[in-house]
Amino acid sequence: MTETITMPIGRPTPFDPPAELALLRERGPIVPLAYPDGHQGWLVTGHALAREVLADPRFSARSELRHLPTASEAPRGRPAPPGLFVAMDPPEHTRYRHLLTGEFTVRRMRRLTERIEEVTRTCLDAMERQGPPADLVAAFAAPIPAVVICELLGVPEADRPAFIAQMTRLSGPELTVEEKYAAFAAVQGQIKELVTAKRAAPSDDLLSGLTRGDLDDDELATIGFMLLGAGLDTTANMLALGTFALLEHPGAAAALLGDVDQAVEELLRYLSIVPFLVRTPLEDVDLGGVRVAKGESVTVSLAAADRDPGRFHSPDLLDLARRSGSHVAFGHGVHQCLGQQLARVEMRVAFPALFARFPSLRLAVPAAEVPLRTDMAIYGVHRLPVAWDAPQ
Ligand code: HEM
Repeated sequence: MTETITMPIGRPTPFDPPAELALLRERGPIVPLAYPDGHQGWLVTGHALAREVLADPRFSARSELRHLPTASEAPRGRPAPPGLFVAMDPPEHTRYRHLLTGEFTVRRMRRLTERIEEVTRTCLDAMERQGPPADLVAAFAAPIPAVVICELLGVPEADRPAFIAQMTRLSGPELTVEEKYAAFAAVQGQIKELVTAKRAAPSDDLLSGLTRGDLDDDELATIGFMLLGAGLDTTANMLALGTFALLEHPGAAAALLGDVDQAVEELLRYLSIVPFLVRTPLEDVDLGGVRVAKGESVTVSLAAADRDPGRFHSPDLLDLARRSGSHVAFGHGVHQCLGQQLARVEMRVAFPALFARFPSLRLAVPAAEVPLRTDMAIYGVHRLPVAWDAPQ
């Protein structure tokens, strides 16, 4: 009889994935997994097999097909509304993705880089003025991506606090599934108003660009919602948890300043803040020596794949000089993160600026007291109290 296991959750340290994942990987890159709703599916922990699943068109990303391995969310999703292409398969996915790729232009990213530098400076100035201690999440990690994604979309400054408050509420653990759908409808309403305004008076932002195509208001509102959601929490958590990791590894902050591009890739690999993705095969598939039947959900642990010793030497070490470009922190295959270049620019600008401004930056509480987002779809920290030596 094959032993089945449930999704490991508890983390041994703030930076390491559950220790059981490594033990499971020793059994093989794919093992049977019992899902909380009673479904019997699979868990992939190997790096090569993770990429194989994510690149295989026989595996669907549709939300109504998948079972989730943790009980914190609805066990089965609803079909994606028009525009929510992260939960669609080709050819629907391809159509939306092409429209969006055309909007993530080099010119727009270059202009955003200058804004990221400005916004970072503004946050650091405010921290310095106020003096230590500070919550790095509220003062730095959250506002930088928030301003950037709002500028990318063209959310007017006056509307930003309302958008960000709704999105923060939506990503929190306290809402029931029904409340989440209601909150989603409310944000969509806000974005629809914005779309109407862009149609009447287009500017050179991304939403205005999309209104020139043949997408209807519902599709545009959903795409706007998805970009806000994807752009806010992810980068914010990389900035906060990344800073935490740099502070807890002696010499790491100095090493970061050596080759920042490489250091950012290593932080992405080491932290893999999107812990897993779920895919469902549309037909029976032979995978890593087992037969996965049509409809059996496969949870791909990005966190485990990025710690696979078969791919990365001493994977549990944070080694900022490592070439970790093949990590799967941004996913892999057709759904690989659309905003990855933007996220990279944000991190490449923000980390060095933070440590250059505050060379004596340190935690203001013992590491064990930093509240971790173990209860959230995107891992990170809720708050990061920090201090530094302020001039007398
Ligand atoms: C460090 C920050 C980020 C991380 C770790 C991250 C991670 C990911 C991952 C793992 C996926 C794959 C989802 C899947 O296959 O189901 C993804 C997709 C996506 N990301 Fe990101 N992301 C980040 C930042 C961003 C930003 C800043 C944006 C927007 C500006 C963004 C927009 C998207 C979109 C639209 C998708 C869906 C792409 C598709 O389905 O074709 N992400 N991201």
